[in-house]
Amino acid sequence: MIRVRAPGRVNLIGDHTDYTGGLVLPMAIDRWTVIEGERVDDVVELTSEAEDAPLRLDLPVSDAAMVEPAWGRFVAGVAAELGDDAQAMRGRVTTSIPIGAGLSSSAALEVAAALALGFEGTPTALAELCRRAEHRASGVPCGIMDQLCIAAGVAGHGLLINCTTLSIDSVRIPDEVAVVVQFVDHRRLDGSEYSTRVEECAAAEAIIGPLRMATPDLVEKIKDPVLRRRARHVITENQRVRDFASALSSGAYVTAGHLMLRSHASLRDDFETSTPTMDAAVAAMAAIPGVYGARMTGGGFGGCVVALAELGTRTPGWQVRAVDGARRMET
Ligand code: GLA
Repeated sequence: MIRVRAPGRVNLIGDHTDYTGGLVLPMAIDRWTVIEGERVDDVVELTSEAEDAPLRLDLPVSDAAMVEPAWGRFVAGVAAELGDDAQAMRGRVTTSIPIGAGLSSSAALEVAAALALGFEGTPTALAELCRRAEHRASGVPCGIMDQLCIAAGVAGHGLLINCTTLSIDSVRIPDEVAVVVQFVDHRRLDGSEYSTRVEECAAAEAIIGPLRMATPDLVEKIKDPVLRRRARHVITENQRVRDFASALSSGAYVTAGHLMLRSHASLRDDFETSTPTMDAAVAAMAAIPGVYGARMTGGGFGGCVVALAELGTRTPGWQVRAVDGARRMET
């Protein structure tokens, strides 16, 4: 019997910083994708509770991006990355992670698939393989945050990840605060705007060098106003991640909440990955007494709002718990 599970994730702060090797602070949440089944010869056959069409993949897989049904591309990308190490199986996928909501349902599927198809290695190696699988499957040049958080989550903690060294410091989520997630809107754009932002950051780095090492005054050297704004978001967001980690650890929740609000404003004004609907949801959440702060979380253009609140505050959405990363389960 094979039985594995991988959690979803919510990012507390540090968005659009991972692909320039910056800082992020996500946590794995108590929603999971589970794959169960048995070993067979040469073929991967999976049904999914959330999808109509089953997946049938002949091993080895070469072109993951062409696989039908489309949900199977994430599994195919993983199988392609595993190459000769991919072990065949027949089974089913179930999930409690809302799909397409910005809580990394696709990264959870990749990480679960890698474990189900026989991956052996460290959480970091697992995350790197799954990130490459995502690139193959969707063509979206994502960073490492989602896969690494899902692979390496620590119960009760957020993960302060340095996306250059991939070092992880766990940051305790104090018992007296609640992390709340509210689903607001399905993401409307495919990867194209995301890819554009990745390119814009690369263009800014060609002018002022690595954004993760830059100071805010350096952005004045960038003539193009759009690139200047993109760079300013990334540089200031990296600093906000550091400040947020310190604020959370020292019980300065009001400060932590302000940092989340400033992060959202930066995503809205400088990085332009928010939408009026998301802005309104953040404002409404932040106006609730007991809420320290809120922001859009993840890739943007829809998805979820994450909030930090005093425990017991009545808010829309649901309180999430920080959980351990993906693993094989006893069968
Ligand atoms: C998506 C990507 C991540 C990261 C976020 C934005 O979730 O998969 O790598 O870039 O967007 O922070």
